[in-house]
Amino acid sequence: MELVDAPHSKCGTFGFVGSSPTAPTSMMSTYNRFPLDLVKGKGSWVWDKEGGKYLDAVAGIATCSLGHSDKALNKSLSKQLRKLQHVSNLYGIPEQEELAQWLTSNSFAKSVFFCNSGAEANEAAIKLARKYGHIKRNIDNPVILCSKESFHGRTLAAVSATGQPKYHKGFEPIVQGFKFFFYNDSESFENLFDDLEKTGPTIAAVLIEPIQGEGGINIGKKSFFELLRKKCTSNNVLLIFDEVQTGMGRTGTLWGYEQLGIEPDVFTLAKGLGGGHAIGALLANKLADVFQPGDHASTFGGNPFACRAALTVGKEIQKRDLLNKVNDRGDQLKEGLIKLSEKYSDIFISTRGVGLIQGLVIKDDIKITSLDIVKSALEEKLLLVSAGTKVVRVVPPLTITKKEVKELIVRLDKCLMKLS
Ligand SMILES: Cc1ncc(COP(=O)(O)O)c(C=O)c1O
Repeated sequence: MELVDAPHSKCGTFGFVGSSPTAPTSMMSTYNRFPLDLVKGKGSWVWDKEGGKYLDAVAGIATCSLGHSDKALNKSLSKQLRKLQHVSNLYGIPEQEELAQWLTSNSFAKSVFFCNSGAEANEAAIKLARKYGHIKRNIDNPVILCSKESFHGRTLAAVSATGQPKYHKGFEPIVQGFKFFFYNDSESFENLFDDLEKTGPTIAAVLIEPIQGEGGINIGKKSFFELLRKKCTSNNVLLIFDEVQTGMGRTGTLWGYEQLGIEPDVFTLAKGLGGGHAIGALLANKLADVFQPGDHASTFGGNPFACRAALTVGKEIQKRDLLNKVNDRGDQLKEGLIKLSEKYSDIFISTRGVGLIQGLVIKDDIKITSLDIVKSALEEKLLLVSAGTKVVRVVPPLTITKKEVKELIVRLDKCLMKLS
């Protein structure tokens, strides 16, 4: 198969010559899809409809925590399907209560709101921060500080909080009330913070990822995050972590904030929480009284089926000692990626990552992009995903085995050999 650029797409999409891509389609053209239809999965592997078998280092973009078609997840969800799938949040939902208990007893949080996705969880966090600003701090126009190169989702407020103008383009006017500082840059943060606070309190919250995922696997610096914590605490400003990509064990600790040795006041989850099923969550410490009945809601948020999925993922992470395994496999993966970045030093500058969120960083001054490598890996039947144009992201299931990590490196080596 040969990869070509499809000139009709304004996004620079691509297709395969000699194969039939998923299109023509009645779907809106929001995705540049790779031309393979995935129809089956098991563990770290997925199959296309022609029977091609791929090693999946995308995992639904850091989402299928237990891999595909996990036995324990299949069993508990099959049981839940027969028992109860959906009821309204007008009634008590025992699975929701049980999941909230699991989350609060395994984190600093005291209360949880359930929704369906990362963007929705951040949307809820933004609303919580604004209401906190109004009712607890008497701020008329609360501002939320966010970092450049961040990613918080595609709903209008979440995308407005996202520090990448390319995602705003075409959707102006964006939501007001967000100001941006450079990630890991203490001076940039302090200048913005102090300037805004000079004429009276305006800042309700700081919203930030412990590791910027979509922005290029940028790892949060401890000293920078300690400064954020200190500054927020002394000014009664909420510190909110977007743990949509880092939460639920991906970094080798259950939550990304544990890597930084500090606790935020609020954090959001989605992706890995449901292991492939749609669930998001907003978790907070000491803020249970900010939202009152009627302030926020979601029809599907935290239904019995989604909560059962998340409960099973959480319990299986503990039962199978997956955090230790993520650390071991993460070390093995990192070692392999470092070797590849040294072997192909004409392509790569370095690697970045923690646990099973790893990235290969491509040189700025060469033509090769992350998409080139992702496309080439596809030919070796390895699924990878970009994080921006110059970082190749490797986010396999948390259950990936030693043998599979070895195989991943072998396949990546083959594809790089062709490219270099
Ligand atoms: C850090 C972060 N926040 C929010 C989102 C948005 O999540 P969703 O696509 O579930 O709305 C993402 C998705 O990539 C993410 O990585």
